[in-house]
Amino acid sequence: MTGRREIYLQEMGLGPVWRARGVQADAPDLVDAGAMDSAELKAAVAGCTACELHKTRTQAVFGVGDENADWLFIGEAPGAEEDAQGEPFVGQAGKLLDNMLKSIGLKRGDNVYITNVVKSHPPNNRNPLPNEIAACIPYLRRQIDLIQPKLIVTLGKIASEALLGREATIASLRGKVHAYQGIPLIVTYHPAYLLRTLQDKARAWEDLCLAKQTMQDLCSKEPATL
Ligand code: URA
Repeated sequence: MTGRREIYLQEMGLGPVWRARGVQADAPDLVDAGAMDSAELKAAVAGCTACELHKTRTQAVFGVGDENADWLFIGEAPGAEEDAQGEPFVGQAGKLLDNMLKSIGLKRGDNVYITNVVKSHPPNNRNPLPNEIAACIPYLRRQIDLIQPKLIVTLGKIASEALLGREATIASLRGKVHAYQGIPLIVTYHPAYLLRTLQDKARAWEDLCLAKQTMQDLCSKEPATL
């Protein structure tokens, strides 16, 4: 493992558990996306070969929406439809996500940006592996730096753990306002999980209300502009 990888993993809070399970000693070097502008970042993601997923994807899926959005929603990884269309959350889970947005007065692309932790489709819709997450997360970190959202909503366990840097259940993380690098972060269930687990939709609604309230509080604290 290179020194730089070690430093990144430390910074991400990815301790020995993640490393032992997934990040291989012979895995490719992590990407240095820290100084890229938006166009460079998109090009780097489109051509990325940092993990094995590039061999089976149709295309990398960068993200969609308003690049100056206040709201940033983060999922796990593109599914088969997203891989085909090049846009996150366009399948069944995406339809539910659009309805979740609508329920709190939001719309894809309108002050909202949507992306994933991992930009390439894992075969057979399996969960991304820890080494794939570790290889891809520098892109997400840079996306967040460039977008500078007021609020992040993580959808499901993979996105929540990746940004909070620790393993935890959604049940234990939801209902609170966390922070990613000083940006308030709210955790909720992944829409694909909600399609299978209808009884948790009410909890997701509570999470969305918390997100909306948090955004209102953030906006009311902003100094008025002339
Ligand atoms: N699930 C995700 O996490 N992201 C997508 O883009 C689609 C499904």
